[in-house]
Amino acid sequence: MPADTAFMDKLTALCKRRGFIFQSSEIYGGIGGFWDYGPLGVELKRNIKNLWWQEMVVNPPIGPDGREVEMVGVDCSLIMNPKVWEASGHVSGFADPMVDCKECKGRFRADQIGSIPCPLKPSKPVGKHDKCQLTEPRLFNLMFKTYVGALEDASSVAYLRPETAQGIFANFKNVLDTSRVKVPFGIGQVGKAFRNEINPRNFTFRSREFEQMEIEFFCHPEQSMTWYQWWRNTRFNWYVNLGLKSEKLRLRDQGPEELAHYSKACADIEYLFPFSDDFQELEGVAHRGCFDLSQHQKFSGKDLTYFDNDAWERDRAARAAGTLPALSKDEEKEVKNKEPYRFLPHVVEPSAGADRATLAFLGEAYAEDTAPDEKGNPETRVVMRFHPRLAPVKAAFFPLVKKEGMPEIAEALYREAKKHMTAQFDEQGSIGKRYRRMDEAGTPFCITIDGDTLTSGTVTIRDRDSLQQSRVHKDQVVAWLIERVK
Ligand code: GAP
Repeated sequence: MPADTAFMDKLTALCKRRGFIFQSSEIYGGIGGFWDYGPLGVELKRNIKNLWWQEMVVNPPIGPDGREVEMVGVDCSLIMNPKVWEASGHVSGFADPMVDCKECKGRFRADQIGSIPCPLKPSKPVGKHDKCQLTEPRLFNLMFKTYVGALEDASSVAYLRPETAQGIFANFKNVLDTSRVKVPFGIGQVGKAFRNEINPRNFTFRSREFEQMEIEFFCHPEQSMTWYQWWRNTRFNWYVNLGLKSEKLRLRDQGPEELAHYSKACADIEYLFPFSDDFQELEGVAHRGCFDLSQHQKFSGKDLTYFDNDAWERDRAARAAGTLPALSKDEEKEVKNKEPYRFLPHVVEPSAGADRATLAFLGEAYAEDTAPDEKGNPETRVVMRFHPRLAPVKAAFFPLVKKEGMPEIAEALYREAKKHMTAQFDEQGSIGKRYRRMDEAGTPFCITIDGDTLTSGTVTIRDRDSLQQSRVHKDQVVAWLIERVK
């Protein structure tokens, strides 16, 4: 499918016009690769992050062993001891190849020049214009550098974290020692990450500051492929259940040539974003073996192995009962500190981007159809068909006219609804215009207080997608809404 630039233009225009996403520091001309979320965008993105946290960390699904998956969360600092990034391999290896153009002075990611327009002749890609004079590629480390403390020298260099994952690995022992979790278990984190991307582009898709939703799931090496398969499917279904249509969403297993040397398997959850003719990564689910824990063990000098006390006690009882061969005291000591009782857990890492998820849900929700105008004639409308759980505003309350007590009833219902969900009150303009505003915001339900409300006590609830109107008693409206948006 070719990139739909016209669609992308409409989507970005709507994002700005309706307050989903703004260019960062726009009044000063902006800054490449940084974005701000406006009043609607912040609610949408927060809903995505909250649902992820709720469904992955607080109340995770039933795992492949038939039990609820054990999960806890952390919130780690953005700046960590620089040794973390030496251990993780980011200092030596987190780099993209970069070329300079001596003619236009631009800098480009060497592996993407074919899809980047030449600044001097945007109809041609970088390198294809007669005047392009590209240098040989050289590696550019993507970590943002800063200094900690008053001295700016080599000893005070630190980095803004390029991923949230390493904070989890660095706290593996702390979590084990403080929260009574047992392998298999996972640690989740949602937070900012920073990468000095050479060519940030495609709206928020590739930014320099973004948010990740990451899980490091620690399990026994022998069970790791079972857990990997389970996470891969669980994470894919999460997007489907929140409304990403299956033909634009796909799960792609990486080939052996794409895998890191320590990885047994990796799958990308990909989405066909409108800016591209190819599927792009939304989330990666990686089997990372014990690479990260062994690196941190090596660099920190701290023992990060896990002791499986349950297995040890079970086998000890079996030895006492004679169902396993007995061990001498010395043998016991030796055996206790080896596999299968003591080991470095293997890790499955589902790593998602909150901003890419937000962009995918925005693109999926955008639709144009026809709806009746004030006089009942069909008119084109822009409607954001968000899943009700993702919708930034769940319900809007309209008095039909600004008199006869209608505004008071609408306002009272709005105040009640606000205790349970995001809601808006709007009495400005014609009812048709108010509907259109809410359609663009993706509000699934609009509640109108009209003449009948004054006599029968019922209000009209209009469904954003079907445009059907149902009458519900005003005393039941909030319960009716809660049932549909939670
Ligand atoms: N810990 C593994 C890790 O960070 P990654 O594939 O580099 O893996 C995970 O990043 C996710 O973070 C990606 O799938 C994407 O959704 C998001 N992400 C990565 N770089 C990004 C960027 N420059 N802008 C926006 N999101 C990004």
